[in-house]
Amino acid sequence: MSTILVTGGAGYIGSHAVLALKNAGYEVIVLDNLSNGHQEIVEQVLQVKLIVGDMSDRALLDSIFSTNNIAAVMHFAAYIAVGESVNEPAKYYRNNVVGTLTLLEAMLAASVNKFIFSSTCALYGVPQFIPLTEDHPQNPISPYATSKWMVERILSDFDTAYHLKSVSFRYFNAAGADPNGLLGEDHIPETHLIPLVLLTALGKSESIFIFGSDYPTPDGTCIRDYIHVNDLAQAHILGLQYLLDGGESEVFNLGNGNGFSVREVIETAKQVTGKDIPIIERDRRPGDPPILVGSSDKVRKKLVWHPQYPNLNEIITHAWQWHQQKHQ
Ligand code: UFG
Repeated sequence: MSTILVTGGAGYIGSHAVLALKNAGYEVIVLDNLSNGHQEIVEQVLQVKLIVGDMSDRALLDSIFSTNNIAAVMHFAAYIAVGESVNEPAKYYRNNVVGTLTLLEAMLAASVNKFIFSSTCALYGVPQFIPLTEDHPQNPISPYATSKWMVERILSDFDTAYHLKSVSFRYFNAAGADPNGLLGEDHIPETHLIPLVLLTALGKSESIFIFGSDYPTPDGTCIRDYIHVNDLAQAHILGLQYLLDGGESEVFNLGNGNGFSVREVIETAKQVTGKDIPIIERDRRPGDPPILVGSSDKVRKKLVWHPQYPNLNEIITHAWQWHQQKHQ
């Protein structure tokens, strides 16, 4: 049974990936500094080994790699708030780029050369065509997106020089929750649209702000491609198996190929929850491209990935189940 080191495994997408890894029969060790993650999720719900620490701690990494037989690393640990990254770029470059570089160097020193990376469709910037394909020009417009773009460049150079094999998944908008209701999206502070809409439906927040209603889209609000977190997690299992079978480095989009505007998300959430969700229109949020919708043909063909929950209604239903039980 192979052991996989999962950084950021106490976070939203990381915890769903740990569950998928366990279900696929892998041994998992989570490394998480708990800046945004949840200890009890790893220890009580997922019941895998948690090492509380930071990926920038090289001595810690060296001891993890020397005392465990790690076959591959899945790297989720990162700061992820697009708006915050515009105001605090140093935080993003230090953690997301320098931290990842430290992790990669520790891997190489330990002869671990398989790496799954959480990248982002945000690195394409403002689309020149839709749906975005992997060969679309890259022009990130936020430090968050630039930090992910930089790591992809590092991975390409590390393959050339050091034969480090990686799969980078460029996520569109991860959403939803595992249908068993034990895992979900719980960022502190929460900045993402769907959980904020559901917190409004629950009465935890008075209204939802719409950031920008003058975008060049049919209803003036930003359009995103929402993908169920379990479908993302399943793609990681396929990517891991591909690398363990000797696959070459690859980048893949991960989305559903369907765009929904902010207003459409709110309308769907109203239907799912049966609640009123008051809105307030605000200025645009810095760093937001008007539309991000992707083609995932490449991952569907090469890794034979089939999303199980492509429907926005179902994605929001699963998120709603989790939010309700969390706040009951
Ligand atoms: N939005 C609102 N009101 C809110 C929160 C968000 O109108 O209260 C809008 C945003 O402006 C954006 C859309 O809803 O247009 C989605 O915003 P999210 O914050 O939910 O997600 P982002 O698209 O900004 O970012 C997410 C991930 C990134 C990833 C990106 C890819 O956080 O890691 O998707 O699109 F890169």
